[in-house]
Amino acid sequence: MKIVGLLPYWINMAEGGAVHNTIDMQSLFLLTGANGGGKSSLLRSICAAALLGICGLTVRAESALIPYFDSIMLHTKSYDSPADHKSSFQVEMSELRSIITRTTQRSLVLVDEICRGTEAAKGTCIAGSIIETLDSIGCLASIWSLDSAQNNLVNNYELLQK
Ligand SMILES: Nc1ncnc2c1ncn2[C@@H]1O[C@H](COP(=O)(O)OP(=O)(O)OP(=O)(O)O)[C@@H](O)[C@H]1O
Ligand SMILES: [Mg+2]
Repeated sequence: MKIVGLLPYWINMAEGGAVHNTIDMQSLFLLTGANGGGKSSLLRSICAAALLGICGLTVRAESALIPYFDSIMLHTKSYDSPADHKSSFQVEMSELRSIITRTTQRSLVLVDEICRGTEAAKGTCIAGSIIETLDSIGCLASIWSLDSAQNNLVNNYELLQK
């Protein structure tokens, strides 16, 4: 997937200050950055661009090369569901289980900072194992934004590639 000059769909160009992003990615992509750096916005923008692109509609970018995806799955923030007797961690894990069981080699999977409310080492292990599972499925594109405590996963993943 290659998108040049991508803009978040909710930003008003007339107000100025919009930053154009370019992505050129295959398979798995780990995104790290400071708080407020624009990670979640980039994930949502890519998600919207992919959805518009596979529907044959205009993408808010200078150019976009978007492959056919059989599914687009976006996991963003965590919430609890007391009426279902589920804590926020349980809701998050069941959403991630749905993603893992439904991902195919033609899926786009976008995950924004999982296990934020979990102890750092355990959260890193969970994130790492799900990243490796998705990588072994070989989905067409997967983008993960990492919590700052999980940034060391980038080094681990580079080691796995060697
Ligand atoms: N391309 C862009 N151009 C201009 N402003 C942007 C752009 N992308 C994001 N922003 C603005 O930057 C702010 C922070 O973005 P965002 O929430 O995506 O950051 P983040 O890296 O996910 O932060 P956090 O680590 O706290 O979750 C938002 O107010 C958003 O509107
Ligand atoms: Mg964010």
